[in-house]
Amino acid sequence: MSQEAKKHLTYYVLTYGCQMNVYDSEILAALMENEGYLPAAVPEDADIVIFNTCCIRDNADQKVYGRLGDFKKRRETNANFVLAVAGCLAQKDKEGILQRFPQIDIVLGTHQVRRLPELIKQVLVKRQALACVGRVGDHLDMPARPLSAFQAKIPISVGCNQWCTYCIVPYVRGPLKSRPLPLIKAEAQRLAAEGWREIMLLGQNVNDYGHDLEEDIDFATVLRELKGIPGLDRLRFTSPHPAYFTDRVIEAMADNPSVCEHVHLPLQSGDDEILRKMKRGYTGDEFLQLTAKLRQAIPNLGITTDIIVGYANESEEQFENTLRVVEEAQFDSAFMFAYSERPGTPGALAAAQVPEEVRMERLYKLIAKQNAISEAKHRTRLKQVTEVLAEGPSKKEKGRYTGRTRQNWLVHFPCEKDLTGSLVRVELEEAYMWGFVGKMLEVVG
Ligand code: SAH
Ligand code: SF4
Ligand code: F3S
Repeated sequence: MSQEAKKHLTYYVLTYGCQMNVYDSEILAALMENEGYLPAAVPEDADIVIFNTCCIRDNADQKVYGRLGDFKKRRETNANFVLAVAGCLAQKDKEGILQRFPQIDIVLGTHQVRRLPELIKQVLVKRQALACVGRVGDHLDMPARPLSAFQAKIPISVGCNQWCTYCIVPYVRGPLKSRPLPLIKAEAQRLAAEGWREIMLLGQNVNDYGHDLEEDIDFATVLRELKGIPGLDRLRFTSPHPAYFTDRVIEAMADNPSVCEHVHLPLQSGDDEILRKMKRGYTGDEFLQLTAKLRQAIPNLGITTDIIVGYANESEEQFENTLRVVEEAQFDSAFMFAYSERPGTPGALAAAQVPEEVRMERLYKLIAKQNAISEAKHRTRLKQVTEVLAEGPSKKEKGRYTGRTRQNWLVHFPCEKDLTGSLVRVELEEAYMWGFVGKMLEVVG
């Protein structure tokens, strides 16, 4: 195809899954822009549609597979139409996706992101489906091009060496690979200079950073190196593994004023036997001790978590232990999931599994408990005046803005002006399970 014709082709990236996927989508978009493709407003209008997928639970797979059906007949009306499936589900199901969905042109594995433009060119010429799923390679040398209006993401590592027995991530993202520290620092300095006030450091287990490098550095070194970067108001990270949360890391957090007063600390279960089966490397009590230590070191700390119910024949009593730890931990909020067997993981091989309806019953019970804790905790913060980073107008309510405090509490506040990316001071006036409604006092900058 001529360069001229290609210039008019448009693309759309549909993103599923975690923040790492959101980051990968930013890289995919940058690759497309570099080639002269233009962004489409909606996937239905795009010549090239890229699904960046997740496979963490079966419902994540089904979401993608369901939506792929919408693009079944697009080639009939658009000869240039290209459908690419990237991300974790592509890595998991590989060429099999092409057999199941003939409308797909490209399957792009998690290690092959940078090859997308080249594969699109091949497909446009030859009209032959391609799968590129080799497990070696990364795109950690590529500069970040944030698409979010308020936050820049920087991966500090990819992959994971933990092999928690329920989890498919190490299979589809490969082993831990840490990014060189000078590169992370240079990215943070550049992004802050470009005006990003909030940076999110990404890794499946950020606390494992550096273990694969020759230098003697760890995640605490990263937090220390990123201290004092002009313009960097907020530094966040996700996720730290509780078993690797050293005092060095806690001290480095407390010592860097940019580091937000928030940790996302995945509990997964409160039962020691289930935690052992999950290979998590801590007990319920050790987890609680860590939360106490963190709260002691960092005043007004927000703690959020992830919890799985119904893993590996979990008994009612074991589930009750999770409820007990949740009660004691007093999380600000939690992502809660019913266990989903992932093919090839040890958890899926267990002879007996908790029946689906019991998993759901436990999930609802846990959600009800956590919601009550969240609301009660939020109520204790009423009248606080706090700093909020404005993320954008609320999608649900006109005339309202939404943003987050440093503790990651969600705040809605009435505002007609465009404040996206600004820091504002807000008084918390109403408390709900999901967060707060507040009154904006002033724009800080
Ligand atoms: N690397 C991160 C996030 C992993 S995926 C971490 O370790 O914290 C995000 C969450 O999905 C996990 O924390 C876990 O709670 C949940 N999860 C992972 N595998 C799952 C499965 N098979 N079924 C249900 N939930 C799962
Ligand atoms: Fe999965 Fe565990 Fe690695 Fe997180 S730390 S990505 S839950 S294997
Ligand atoms: Fe999903 Fe892959 Fe992230 S499985 S949660 S998109 S690492």
